Parts: sequence; structure tokens; C-alpha cells
Amino acid sequence: MAVHDDARPRRTFAVISHPDAGKSTLTEALALHASVISEAGAVHGKAGRRGTVSDWMEMERARGISITSAALQFTYRDHVVNLVDTPGHSDFSEDTYRVLSAVDSAVMLVDAAKGLEPQTLKLFQVCAHRGIPVLTIINKWDRPGLDPLELMDSIEQQIKLKPTPLTWPVGEAGDFRGVLDRRTGGFIQFTRTAGGATRAPELHLSPDQATGVAGGAWTTAQEEHELLSADGADHDQKRFLAGETTPVLFASALQNFGVAQLLEILLELAPPPGASPALNGAVRGVDDDFSAFVFKVQSGMDSAHRDRLAYARVCSGVFERGMVVTHAGTGRPFATKYAQAVFGRERSSVETAFPGDVVGLVNASSLRVGDTIYAGEPVEYPPIASFAPEYFATARAADTGRYKQFRSGIEQLDQEGVVQVLRSDLRGAQNPVLAAVGPMQFEVVLARMEAEFKAPVRLEQLAYTVARRTDDAGAEALSGIRQIEVLARSDGTHLVLFPDKWRVTTVARDHPDVMLEALPASTG
Ligand code: G4P
Repeated sequence: MAVHDDARPRRTFAVISHPDAGKSTLTEALALHASVISEAGAVHGKAGRRGTVSDWMEMERARGISITSAALQFTYRDHVVNLVDTPGHSDFSEDTYRVLSAVDSAVMLVDAAKGLEPQTLKLFQVCAHRGIPVLTIINKWDRPGLDPLELMDSIEQQIKLKPTPLTWPVGEAGDFRGVLDRRTGGFIQFTRTAGGATRAPELHLSPDQATGVAGGAWTTAQEEHELLSADGADHDQKRFLAGETTPVLFASALQNFGVAQLLEILLELAPPPGASPALNGAVRGVDDDFSAFVFKVQSGMDSAHRDRLAYARVCSGVFERGMVVTHAGTGRPFATKYAQAVFGRERSSVETAFPGDVVGLVNASSLRVGDTIYAGEPVEYPPIASFAPEYFATARAADTGRYKQFRSGIEQLDQEGVVQVLRSDLRGAQNPVLAAVGPMQFEVVLARMEAEFKAPVRLEQLAYTVARRTDDAGAEALSGIRQIEVLARSDGTHLVLFPDKWRVTTVARDHPDVMLEALPASTG
């Protein structure tokens, strides 16, 4: 059987949302629906919930956020669904971008009462940057919220995507009777279950029956549905795949309503894994030799497994545990004896994986984020963009007796891409500068250095806010200039740090021959 027969039924996606919009609840509901778990709360619960699996860090427990990324795989109606988890913290981090480089589509979760929130907008921009199609879920419709037409308006105005609702709510937010299925014109009635802990039964009714049970709410929904059609808000698969429109569903993840529809729509409309563009204009088709790229590296997930894991997304061919692949960066062989599927704290061996699947490679100390591994015909995927840092701090071992642990901890966090680590002769190896896209990254450093490496650090914020890339000549020409500083990133790139944009302008004016290149910004 050709690999594309295995790739075609696969759907690899991530859920993106502002914290608290219901991502964990929806993940549980999806898994529940696919019967991965028997009762909600067993997969991905947060602090205080039963069977929490992503609580490996004190900090997560305290804040109720999920910092680990993992992939949940389940089969549903002859399809294989890979749900790749995005970090749940409230500021944008490079992590999120990396995760989104491993998926074929995204589900944007919007809280019905809060509408589009800052993080939703940022994450959406990342999806647009990556060119991945986005499905939208308006969640928590069981609670009072905004007007549905207003919500559609704000999506169109603020994220410049044409919303094309596939379902439309019957009953305003807080009075959720069910949805009008805009493709059949029928009514899907919502039935509450205790705590939403079992699959919500769905009753499919004809328009006539709907008038009987939902009365005025049904009439309003029908009128609004017609308004939407008149406005061209009907689904168009080509425009969806081109990133011009977003199909919308109304749901209550907590009550398990709309979850079955989301799964059906993912299977029906979301794209399967396709050919992957590689460096130098090459393209690797799913039927070609095995290849994968690493989108996340992580260590010390819990005390029972103190090792290092590289998560790789399979791009082409078949992965078989034990195969020896080539690490594109070094040309060295890499044995895959210990390949695992990881979700939260649960691990199981992966024997075979196909395009779209995520494998966790254990003890992958040579693999870094963005690396390609392959078998057969060589291939290398473009590096994952690293974003322009805007926060800078010097790091110092709080306990000088723990310097060795400090050094290996910083090196580990650097390799995982938790922060970028910058050094200069001037500051010396003991005092690296940490650079981050969002301040939360520093908190992760503080917490992990203490908990994992037993090497507490002292961070001192620096007054820089802008970084530019330069070359060897530029690094030399700019060293010693007032208010700015030249440092080297561990990948060898020279970065020049400036207090603000104005200083960039004056330095560029005074040194017209020096290269000062902007790095990709996290906000568009
Ligand atoms: P997140 O992962 O996106 O941060 O959100 P999470 O699923 O943890 O949900 C945040 C809160 O919103 C939770 O309440 C959750 O129960 C609630 N919630 C999620 N989906 C729905 C929904 O469809 N309807 C309603 N009414 N609530 C929803 P919490 O009180 O913070 O936590 P918990 O005590 O319920 O666990």
C-alpha cells in the first residue's frame, strides 16, 4: 500500500486560544468523543482536576498553565487524528510558533462572552504567517455571551478572515437550544447531560419539528442564516484552504455539544498531510523516503523519565522504530530504537508512524529544534524562524558552588529553545544574556533552573528592547559603541542589542555600510 493511503485519512491540527477559552476542556471532550478515555478529566485536566497529566512543574500547578507540549493521537471513523497541544501560557512564545509549524490546520477557540482576545489575535497571525487553514469554534454558548452576528463581524474586521458558519446557534448565548445546520437546514437539538461527562446525545430534527420545539429562537436562527447567505458567508472549500475564510461552529465544550460536529468537520474539510517544501526549492512528497523535522525538544518531563525528548513530525515515508536515519545537519546516523508517543505523562512505544504523526525520540541529545532527519534520498527542511527577542536579562548562578549545574542547565534550555542564549567576551561565559520574545520565558527559566538543575539563577533585566542581526564585519565595527551591545547567539549569529528603535536609526545612519537586519517579529 502506498504511503499516501495512510497519509490521506490523517488530520494533524492544534487548538489555539486565549487562556481560559476552554482548550483543555475541548481536548478532553474530543478525546472523550473518540472514546480514548472513559470519563472527562482523565487526559488533560488542570490543577485540581482528576488525573492531571501535565503537572510536571510546580509552576504549572501554581498557575494552572500547561507548559509541556504533547500530541494526542486517536482514531475516529477510519481516520487518524493527531491533536498537537500548544503551550497554554498567556504570552506568545516561540514554542507556539514551532508547534504550529508541525500541523496542517488549526482550530481557533473563541470564548462567546469575551470574543477575540489578544492571544487569539496573535496566534491567528502565526497561522496566517504559516498559511494554515483555520476552523473557528465559538465556545461556551451555554453561558451568556455576545451577539453571534457581532462575533462574526469582529472576526471579519479584526482578523480579516471571512467567517462562514457551518452551524448557527438556536437561542442566544446562555439559552443554547441547539444549532441550525446551515448545510442541511435542519435542527440539531442540544441535550444537557450531567456535567457533560458523557457524550451529549444529539437529536436531528426537521425545520418543521424545530419550529415546534424551539419556536421564536428557531425563526430568528433561520432569518440570520439567510442574512449570512445573502452576505456570501457560505462555506467554500477552496477559499478555506487558501486561508481566506474560516468555517465556524458554535459549541459548549463543557457540555460536549458541538464536539462531534467539530470532529466530523475536521475529517471532512481539514487538509491531510501533503508534500513538504524543503530547502533549495525541493519538495518531498508523502510517498517519498522517510523524513521528519524536529519541532520541539524537551527534557525532565517528570522524575520517572529524566531524559531528553525530541518531538518530530513525520513529513514523508514511513517511520519504523529501530530504523537508522540520518541527521541532516551533521550527516550522522541516528538510531531510533526508543521512539515514543507522548501525551502528558503517558508514554508508549511507537512502532510505525506515517506523515502527520508525531514521534518522541528519546535521548536525542544531538537533535535541535528545526533539525531534519531522513532515510534514503537526502532532504533538509527550512529552519523554523526564530523570532526577534524583545526582552533581555543577564543570568548568573545564585549559588556559585553550583556553577557546573548552572552551565549545563542554561545549555539545555538553550537547546530546547526556551530562551535564546547570547554571549560575549566582555561579559564572559559565566554571565550569559538571555533573550526572550515574551517575559514568561524568563519565569520558565527561573523555575526550571531551580527545580530541575538545582541551580537557582539571578536574572537582571537589561534596558534593551530591540535586536538586529549583523555579520562578522558589523560585529567588529559596532563593538564599543555607546548604548548598544554586540553578542553572539549559540548558533553563531551576531545580534546587536539596542535600547530602542531610535538608537537603531542613529547607529544605522552613522554606519551606513554595516549590516543591520531585522529578525522576524512575533506580532504582525
Ligand atoms: P484553557 O485550557 O483554554 O485555559 O481553558 P479550560 O478548558 O481550562 O477552561 C477554562 C474554564 O472555562 C474552566 O472553568 C472550564 O470549565 C470552563 N469552560 C470551558 N468550556 C466551557 C463551556 O463550553 N461552557 C462553560 N460554561 N464553561 C466552559 P474553571 O472554573 O476555570 O475550571 P473548572 O473548575 O471548571 O475546571
